[in-house]
Amino acid sequence: MATDRVRIALQKKGRMANDSLSLLKSCGLHIDNSKDDLFCRIRELPIDLLMIRDDDIPGFVGGGICDLGIVGENVFAEKKASCGKDAFDACVLERLGFSPCRLSIAVPEGGEIGRIDDLDGKTLATSYPALLHAYLKSRGIRATTLLMRGSVEVAPRLKIADAICDIVASGATLEANDLRELTVVLKSEALLIRSKRTLPEEKEAVIKRLLARMRGVLQACDSKYIMMNAPRAAIERIAALLPGCDSPTIMDLNRNDMVAIHAVCKEAIFWETVETLEKAGASAILVLPIEKMAA
Ligand code: PRP
Ligand code: ZN
Repeated sequence: MATDRVRIALQKKGRMANDSLSLLKSCGLHIDNSKDDLFCRIRELPIDLLMIRDDDIPGFVGGGICDLGIVGENVFAEKKASCGKDAFDACVLERLGFSPCRLSIAVPEGGEIGRIDDLDGKTLATSYPALLHAYLKSRGIRATTLLMRGSVEVAPRLKIADAICDIVASGATLEANDLRELTVVLKSEALLIRSKRTLPEEKEAVIKRLLARMRGVLQACDSKYIMMNAPRAAIERIAALLPGCDSPTIMDLNRNDMVAIHAVCKEAIFWETVETLEKAGASAILVLPIEKMAA
């Protein structure tokens, strides 16, 4: 029966779909979604994937149709704001960090709206009415909202709205439409959400395993294995420079005055870090990616 398998709601297409799938693949799930676009059964674990529209994901998870979901914070927050928090039966299990974007109010370049207060009495087109209402209310601004499910950015040009409230990622869409970002309403990233209901023990165990793998993948993304040679006298100085590293491994080299230093750095290593290490005496520096990491 399907109900003893953990069901995960994912975005069918769009900016987050690929990132969500690659995260799950990195967690060891073999996904063959070429045959069937809507549903994918995972062989290795009792997990089924359901590919749906992103706006439907919070509702599916909250309603118990799916146990987990990967969705943008923008979509999750909008659903939560429109339901009222008590009526909403889904919560955030983990912030996933990928697909960053923001929900922003944008206005025509060089137009009459210069400050947030100028929005008073104006019309804003948006696909995020609940979040926009909450924002305007908190600033004491009375404005009309025009609900549009897509192509929000054309509204000012069509003169059906004075401003918009929409998702901005690179900013290219705003620029192409001669719009300027006035203020950020919400910062957003991908979220792993779950149903608040208590699930059968077996399902909880699968979710726990998947979550541990996800955390391992996410942590491994930033982490690097670094190796270098250094004068024995420079060990302490160099250890202090390694980002997010507790205790490096020191190994003797065939030369008495030199050692090899190996370390796992749990933070990104930039070129600047490498240059500082060189200045501190390190040579033959190698930085390697880490594929998997268990806590
Ligand atoms: C969002 C938003 C803009 C675009 C902004 O749409 O509505 O159209 O992305 O991205 P940019 O700043 O990188 O140009 P999305 O791709 O999520 O699709 P949708 O509007 O159809 O939901
Ligand atoms: Zn869009």
